[in-house]
Amino acid sequence: MSGVNKNIVILISGSGSNMAAIAEAARTRRWEARLGARVAAVISNKAAAAGLAWAREQGIATAALDHTAFDNREAFDAALMAEIDRHSPALVVLAGFMRILTPGFVQHYEGRMINIHPSLLPAFPGLRTHQRAIEMGCRVAGASVHRVTSELDHGEILEQAVVPVLPGDTAETLAARVLTQEHVIYPRAIEKLLSA
Ligand code: GAR
Repeated sequence: MSGVNKNIVILISGSGSNMAAIAEAARTRRWEARLGARVAAVISNKAAAAGLAWAREQGIATAALDHTAFDNREAFDAALMAEIDRHSPALVVLAGFMRILTPGFVQHYEGRMINIHPSLLPAFPGLRTHQRAIEMGCRVAGASVHRVTSELDHGEILEQAVVPVLPGDTAETLAARVLTQEHVIYPRAIEKLLSA
């Protein structure tokens, strides 16, 4: 990815722990000095998302766009695109952004939008990934960073992490184990893309 001003825009819906891990990596691994890259903005579809307050405290620009205030998906995605494009992003990073995206939105950011999904894709696209992995008797679970395409939770896989499923695991204990690895692989995948 060439260019010196590589703005990263991160979309969240909730706690934003992956977003925080990425922002921390940007700081500690000196992405701005080394790679000309910075986290330019964090945008959420929920004003109350805990991650937004954290980002604001870090001095990162934030915005909240309430999807329920829009008539349909297209209208929301158009407004979201306008908000994202104010920052001329080199990379749009979905970090627990729990919205289905319209084809127009996906197309607009084709080749520069990535997502993290809490399963070993192509297994378990969609929701309730940890519960489904436990119910299927999987011995391992994990997370995948992938490029975003118009098909939900598909697209080229950039990084994966594997964790064991332990006897007695619940969806919550497994999710927590996977999440610690998400915080490792997401910054790593982004740094690789920025360095390419
Ligand atoms: C993460 O586990 C992420 O993989 C998942 O939501 C969580 C967000 O946590 N994403 C999806 O399920 C996307 N379909 P965070 O807000 O603490 O980063």
